[in-house]
Amino acid sequence: MTEEIITHSAEETMRWGREFAQRLKAPVLVLLSGDLGTGKTTLTKGIVSGLGAATEDEVTSPTFTLVHVYGGKPAKVYHADLYRIESFHDFETLGMEDMLAMPAVAILEWSERFPLESPCPQFRLRLEHLGGDSRRISVL
Ligand SMILES: Nc1ncnc2c1ncn2[C@@H]1O[C@H](COP(=O)(O)OP(=O)(O)O)[C@@H](O)[C@H]1O
Ligand SMILES: [Mg+2]
Repeated sequence: MTEEIITHSAEETMRWGREFAQRLKAPVLVLLSGDLGTGKTTLTKGIVSGLGAATEDEVTSPTFTLVHVYGGKPAKVYHADLYRIESFHDFETLGMEDMLAMPAVAILEWSERFPLESPCPQFRLRLEHLGGDSRRISVL
């Protein structure tokens, strides 16, 4: 059964992310899919702050830097964006396996670009535009 949430503002998406973070126990992968502007980074702000790893303002899009790392206790939080990753080779240089070798939370934007083989528990979240400031978040 798919869980669906509709939010009507960035603040509401962040709030849901803070609550969703309570379900996460490292090691875990959070795979985010959805078009540009659907709120993947906004949701990540909520998740990272819900984990106590950084404030919402400290979490910014890793579009150019590819991976950001937050916190450390009890687990590091990695936030990566695969949007600009061109090849599977480049994807491998991100070191996803190393990230998850220690208990960590890894949040991936544009996760659908590269299928990830990992024994790690995973949550798949799909974000969609519903017009205006409305977004649907589906926990798949
Ligand atoms: N309900 C909502 N949820 C998330 N973001 C929203 C919402 N309504 C408006 N926005 C705005 O949409 C944009 C989402 O951007 P961002 O989180 O960077 O998306 P993505 O990472 O998916 O490209 C932000 O400017 C945010 O303020
Ligand atoms: Mg983003």
